[in-house]
Amino acid sequence: MIRENVDLQALNTFGLKALARYFCRVDSEARLSQALDFAREHKLPLLLMGGGSNLLLRENFPGLVMQVALRGITHTLQDERSVRVHAASGENWHDFVQHCLSQGWYGLENLALIPGSVGAAPIQNIGAYGVEAGDLIECVDVVDIRTGERQTLNHEQCAFGYRDSVFKHSLRGRKLILGVTFRLWRTPQPNLRYAVLAQALSDKGAGPQEIFDAVCAIRRSKLPDPAVLGNAGSFFKNPVLSAEHYARLQQTNPDIPGFPSDAGGPVKVPAAWLIEKAGWKGRSHGGAAVYEKQALVLVNRDHASARDVVELAQQIMTSVQQQFGVALEPEVQWVPPFEPPFL
Ligand code: EPU
Repeated sequence: MIRENVDLQALNTFGLKALARYFCRVDSEARLSQALDFAREHKLPLLLMGGGSNLLLRENFPGLVMQVALRGITHTLQDERSVRVHAASGENWHDFVQHCLSQGWYGLENLALIPGSVGAAPIQNIGAYGVEAGDLIECVDVVDIRTGERQTLNHEQCAFGYRDSVFKHSLRGRKLILGVTFRLWRTPQPNLRYAVLAQALSDKGAGPQEIFDAVCAIRRSKLPDPAVLGNAGSFFKNPVLSAEHYARLQQTNPDIPGFPSDAGGPVKVPAAWLIEKAGWKGRSHGGAAVYEKQALVLVNRDHASARDVVELAQQIMTSVQQQFGVALEPEVQWVPPFEPPFL
């Protein structure tokens, strides 16, 4: 069950070449314990993978890659208005969203077509079109990698933020996510805060099915399908600037879009706009390129190496820093670095 020197190219959506020294597909609790025991015994660094859709594998991985493939969806009706749905971490995210919609459990439809697994959703608090997964997550079941102890973290303990959670900070590399419990609605609660979505629906109804269809259509028109063109979604986070910094940029760039959290508060600026304005949209470096329809996405255009992607990302970061004084931060997880958890 633990294989050696496994090629990860088909398992990361960027399609980058990298070997795992050891690899285990964890599709049962028994496999999970065996894999953790093996890693502990050999003091191996661990890489936990779901759908491999948010990874930049820069080198061969010298430890154990665990592909979490636990499956299962259960639910309990809470009251007239809500339902609690538990999904195991290896469920495919989009299939789960579709399943909930078909059952009449609403709230996730704005998050249709996001690549990856349910277990990855809380880590980076996936979000799109006005909704973040954390808004609907009630609790997360985890296992401690060192001790094997189980624990359920409630919503507050997850400390969700913009593409952020406790799993990226104090619990980074320490917990493996087994499953996620969502509190969903039994009556539609359409969220049309995102202008592009509201526009797309203006002459149609705005029920959950219409929202789901519109989100799929928008995503298909702007974002590359990883099955066709390797990518990991948004490569950078949208930077949040102080009101003063944003006002300064507006003086020289009157058309810069900005989304303030509160009046006079920090302003979120689309990284895609900064990257495009700095002249990077559509440009290539080796086999990597900036996607021509959405400048926030880096793609594997032609047998890119990890080095091509890293160099392209670094050039973009330098140029956006020089032109706008903005430090872009990658959203995608770069590997390495990794922390050996058992030393
Ligand atoms: N824009 C450009 N050039 C481009 C693309 C966009 O200037 O090439 C500007 C436009 O002004 C546009 C604005 O950026 O109005 C926002 O673009 P878009 O609606 O495509 O959203 P985004 O901010 O680029 C974020 C998320 C996406 C999510 C969309 C929709 C982040 C890092 N990205 O992108 O999430 O799908 O909003 O909600 O927050 C992901 O995280 O992997 C991801 C794809």
